[in-house]
Amino acid sequence: MLAAYASAISAEDPLGGLVVGEMPDPERREGWTTVTVKAAALNHHDVWSLRGVGLAEDALPMILGCDAAGVDEQGDEVVVHSVISSDGWRGDETLDPRRSLLSEHYQGTLAERVAVPARNVVPKPPELSFEHAACLPTAWLTAYRMLFTRGEVVPGMTVLVQGAGGGVATALTVLGSAAGARMWVTSRSEHKRAQALALGADQAFEPGARLPERVDAVMETVGEATWRHSVRALRPGGRIVVSGATSGQAPPAELNRMFFLQLSVVGSTMGTRDELQRLVRFCLDRDVRPAVHATLPLAQARDGFAQMIDGELVGKIVFTAA
Ligand SMILES: NC(=O)c1ccc[n+]([C@@H]2O[C@H](COP(=O)([O-])OP(=O)(O)OC[C@H]3O[C@@H](n4cnc5c(N)ncnc54)[C@H](OP(=O)(O)O)[C@@H]3O)[C@@H](O)[C@H]2O)c1
Repeated sequence: MLAAYASAISAEDPLGGLVVGEMPDPERREGWTTVTVKAAALNHHDVWSLRGVGLAEDALPMILGCDAAGVDEQGDEVVVHSVISSDGWRGDETLDPRRSLLSEHYQGTLAERVAVPARNVVPKPPELSFEHAACLPTAWLTAYRMLFTRGEVVPGMTVLVQGAGGGVATALTVLGSAAGARMWVTSRSEHKRAQALALGADQAFEPGARLPERVDAVMETVGEATWRHSVRALRPGGRIVVSGATSGQAPPAELNRMFFLQLSVVGSTMGTRDELQRLVRFCLDRDVRPAVHATLPLAQARDGFAQMIDGELVGKIVFTAA
């Protein structure tokens, strides 16, 4: 079957190890189901994998991709939940120390078919296209958990999203706005700031800008480049929710500010199967859909990866498989 996979790892040249070509069909395992992929979305996680973050050399060749929507062995339309917990684990899958994401230990979703444990699919309602459904399992689920579970964001709060153009960031803007929060964003690009306003942001600022007032919560995926601003943007008692560090992970901790203003820093990773189901329902009930930057045939996956590495995206890149 056709797949986009990592054949080699390079921190400096991630595209060098990417191959779009033939890979064997998924192995059959007891209790697993094979999903025929209709659409699969790209995440920065896939670029990290090619750079060797979270993907070991001895696991190669590895089909990339965490996100998919398709049709399972019963003929049902499904969304794939990418967090694979260890045998016997019960409860919040993201807290299982032996969990993995598709494409780390098990072959990923950028392929014509992907195998997952039978509990790792949730029903895809017909109102949600395969293209939109494929955006939900990673970036959108991460944003959902950041805002509502870990961030405890409620209507009327003011929330700052750093790096507005990204897959997670656009999801944060749309979901937070639909839930009644006042969403402020920063972006390096004027075009992305304008796009964020169109997606529901109330105000858009240049990185590091002085804000009209302090915010209740900051959503961080950028890391080093924006951390100082994030800490300074918070009101006393405010909270940063962090799920990524695209620009680097060693900013100054700003400890004086942390304790004097009684700030909280909360980590967040992916989301549970239950959260994915609630996210699907939220999208339907509030009539919100993921921002899609481009949809490409899987055969053109290299173009999608190149666009993500260039950093010019607003929203998601989606690949259509079958
Ligand atoms: N923990 C988890 O479960 C989880 C889940 C999903 C993603 N993540 C992580 O979250 C991060 C974002 O993922 P994504 O898929 O949304 O990536 P993406 O679509 O490639 O977006 C990256 C965004 O980061 C911003 N950015 C990058 N470099 C920057 C810099 N030097 N200065 C300022 N902003 C910069 C950009 O914002 P502007 O261009 O608008 O300024 C860009 O829109 C990644 O590191 C990813 O690994 C973690």
